[in-house]
Amino acid sequence: MANENKWGSSLAFILAMIGSAVGLGNIWRYPYVLYSNGGGAFYIPYLVAIFSLAIPFLILEYGVGYNYQSSFTKALIKIKPKFEFYGWVLPVVVFIMAVYYSTIIGWDGIYLFLSFFKGWGANPNTFLNVNLLQSTDSLSGVFNFIPFVAIFMIAGWFIIWFISHKNLDDGLGKVCKVFVPVLFVIMFFIVIFSLTLPGANIGLAELFNPNWSLLWHFDIWMAAFGQIFFSLSLGMGAGFTYASYTGDDIDLISSGLYVVIANSAFENFAALGVFSILGYMSLQSGTPVSQIITQGTTLIFVVYPQVFNVLGTIGLIAGPLFFFTVYVAGITSMLSAFEVLSISIQNKFSLTRRKATLVLCLVGGFASMVYATSAGGYILGIADIFVNNIVIILSVLVECIIFAWIFKAERLIDFLNSRSKTFKLGKWWLIHVKYIIPVILIVIWVGGLYELLSIKTTESVIIIIVLALITIISSLIFTKRPAKTKDWFETEERIK
Ligand code: PFF
Repeated sequence: MANENKWGSSLAFILAMIGSAVGLGNIWRYPYVLYSNGGGAFYIPYLVAIFSLAIPFLILEYGVGYNYQSSFTKALIKIKPKFEFYGWVLPVVVFIMAVYYSTIIGWDGIYLFLSFFKGWGANPNTFLNVNLLQSTDSLSGVFNFIPFVAIFMIAGWFIIWFISHKNLDDGLGKVCKVFVPVLFVIMFFIVIFSLTLPGANIGLAELFNPNWSLLWHFDIWMAAFGQIFFSLSLGMGAGFTYASYTGDDIDLISSGLYVVIANSAFENFAALGVFSILGYMSLQSGTPVSQIITQGTTLIFVVYPQVFNVLGTIGLIAGPLFFFTVYVAGITSMLSAFEVLSISIQNKFSLTRRKATLVLCLVGGFASMVYATSAGGYILGIADIFVNNIVIILSVLVECIIFAWIFKAERLIDFLNSRSKTFKLGKWWLIHVKYIIPVILIVIWVGGLYELLSIKTTESVIIIIVLALITIISSLIFTKRPAKTKDWFETEERIK
């Protein structure tokens, strides 16, 4: 029997990592972030974030994951048994993220279904907020359950279970090998088509019009680092976990480089498509692009359906293709987030991949039902801030310090360089992972916390406290429950 937790080839690893990186963050988040943070001028902080943070950190995560060949939690125990609690916090938080990520995948599933007959009608905004999500900006909305939304979310969890319960290479590996290239091909056609639309140039001129003065603002730098973080799934254990499944011949430095290039190419390509379409919309409706562009859910589920409505019959082809692309991008990202906690549980409680997947899909699917209520969108926004602004950055800071200082990043250099076919690590890399990245993370964290304090309402504080309690209590339970395997405290290291 093939090893249930091993990639069949380096290519499977690279495609799975690209699948993890390319997700909702690339399609709906990036175009808006680029536009609202200086347009063309944004490329300066964006490239700085890639070179100073993304590439060095990704290589560090891969290297340590490869070395331990085990879950993030088990590796931390090997580094120091005292770190076990923290070793659970990160997988639990990433799982919380996977649960709300599943909601957007569920919504996208609904739109994929509706796109075949433009079931959102003539007014997509009312359809989304009033008819479909019945949105309220208050916690009392949790008592209004919406079965139609729940069904599509459960379908998403079923797909995750179906792919994840198989041996790694037969499930996740195969899906990424087929669907990640498909994702790029469909996106390519959508973008080429968008560029031919009348008015595309209006949108592109608006997008790239550089606002150099913004470079002096702290916000645009925060936005660039935040985007790179989320978009590349940095520090969330996904890269660590996927690298731990690689074979001995893997070239981790080059793999990291390919993942970063593919992810940036995809999101910048997506931005071209989004803004060509917005330019087209602007020409049709006589409304300036600046008034049409919105972030996130509204862009995908309101502006796009409006465009497909205007496109007539072509909209019946472009619509399903677009929502299918978002769906696949979402599923391949969620699979990686799911994997982090799954492998930790498999390791500690001696569960098979099948069992761990089933249990986590049941728990995740059940927990996600809170988002299938009228308060779903509201809670999701706050959960996103809890995960991305507060916990993840802090825990990545801890992770970076543990890996770079306590594990000692220098141990990885000779091994990683000996496999690398592209570039080699030198002193510059150590300076980044030991000093520059921790400083950047502290600055981003303080900035994010400041942003959070500005949205403080009693209800949002309650939601954040509940999420913090879930994180702490479940991490404590995982830590305190005795291990079911003898080797929980004995992890072999591949790099001597
Ligand atoms: N990189 C994904 C995106 O851009 O949508 C988000 C993500 C997926 C983050 C998986 C973290 C993760 F473990």
